[in-house]
Amino acid sequence: MVLAKELLHNGTRLKYSVRGEGTVVVLVHGFGEDGSIWEGPANLLPDHKVIIPQLPGSGGSDLLPHTTMDSLAGALQKVIVAETGGEEKVIVLGHSMGGYVTLAFAAAYPQALLGFGLVHSSAAADSEEKIETRKNGIDFIRSNGGYAFLKTMLPSLYAPASKLEHPEWIEQQIADARRFSNEALIGYYEAMMKRPDRRDLLKTTNRPVLFLMGRHDGVVKIDDVLPQSHLPALSYIHILEQSGHMGMIEELEETSRVLNEFISFANGNRT
Ligand code: MLT
Repeated sequence: MVLAKELLHNGTRLKYSVRGEGTVVVLVHGFGEDGSIWEGPANLLPDHKVIIPQLPGSGGSDLLPHTTMDSLAGALQKVIVAETGGEEKVIVLGHSMGGYVTLAFAAAYPQALLGFGLVHSSAAADSEEKIETRKNGIDFIRSNGGYAFLKTMLPSLYAPASKLEHPEWIEQQIADARRFSNEALIGYYEAMMKRPDRRDLLKTTNRPVLFLMGRHDGVVKIDDVLPQSHLPALSYIHILEQSGHMGMIEELEETSRVLNEFISFANGNRT
């Protein structure tokens, strides 16, 4: 049974869902999407308690007064504490921007974690080139609106074969894109531009870290992430051969298999 819940965090309404029993696994969505992106894998993690937060500004959660990776991680912490009482250690897995939030969470609340994962995500800060691209994106949103922006951007998240064989995946995401305010999308972009490099955290963490990459990912490229995957003392590294940036949709079963294995690994079953 999936329970839809909400809480108030300094006057900000945060929505999330909870299902199952077992190790607490928190699945954090990325930019231009909401928690529904994780529905497929959540249903294939039957032995765990899965929490799917809607980040502030997405999926019906209110936008925070100031969006930064740290403030998003603070909202995530409120949801986790509401569900665990702050007693139980959790595994946080973040998709893309959700991975940047996961890293901010790992920096602020390392003791809360059993392990964490970057799903099509990276610990590096934005390059100068990426910052320029984001500035252009913000100008485009201001002139044409967030929906026009996402409609152009979302297809580039999928592998060429996914686009050909499953146009309905992209159509669904574009249909959902109407729900975002321009303010939320610009807030996320500005927060991503300002986020710090977190590779030192990968070097020093004693928690297991998952790196799940897509062979055809044009947003967070394998060549940039693979060198990071060697930084933690304990890494679980996997490349999804058929995926672009959206493995939880493009290779649902393989993604879920890897998540289940990582959860087991983080629980200490490292056979
Ligand atoms: C995302 O999918 O969350 C974003 O595309 C990540 C990014 O732009 O860095």
